[in-house]
Amino acid sequence: MSSDHARVTGAEFRRACGRFATGVTIASVLDAAGAPHGLTVSSFTSVSLEPPLVLVCLGHGVSNIQLFREATYFGINVLNEDQQALSDHFARKGHDRFGSIPWEKGASGVPLIPGCLARMECAVHRRVEMGDHDIFVGEMMHCEVSEGNPLIHFAGAYRKLELL
Ligand SMILES: Cc1cc2nc3c(=O)[nH]c(=O)nc-3n(C[C@H](O)[C@H](O)[C@H](O)COP(=O)(O)O)c2cc1C
Repeated sequence: MSSDHARVTGAEFRRACGRFATGVTIASVLDAAGAPHGLTVSSFTSVSLEPPLVLVCLGHGVSNIQLFREATYFGINVLNEDQQALSDHFARKGHDRFGSIPWEKGASGVPLIPGCLARMECAVHRRVEMGDHDIFVGEMMHCEVSEGNPLIHFAGAYRKLELL
């Protein structure tokens, strides 16, 4: 059991969770008119092998969350170490994020970005509201992988992978 008194603060939560290194992805979706939308997402996780499920968590304040709620498919573009500018671009508010970025439609129609380490097309399997985020669980229908090194996010900063 926990009480309000015992909980961590938002700052403590962010600091602790930031110690868990992640990759960086661009989650993408098409709107009803066929225009691409997306945002930078590090909450990507694999969930299940059979069936092949992954998840991302989107904050309720995310400007295009309704598009993800209405979508049948979403895309996950895993960034490589040379794509930090793309991560910043897709995290910046108030601009047409795909306006100046080359993209192509996957087999399911989702926007896919050239040059990524992995590109996944997911059918929305379930959406669960959880706290101030929605968890989108997707069934992976198509994927492509490329060689390269990942962009890492750790403790609020971008990093490169180093072999031990
Ligand atoms: C490295 C990084 C990881 C992020 N991961 C997430 C995430 O997992 N979920 C999320 O909702 N927002 C995440 N964001 C924030 C969004 O990319 C974006 O800033 C947010 O959608 C605000 O823009 P908007 O409200 O105009 O869409 C992340 C940002 C950065 C820079």
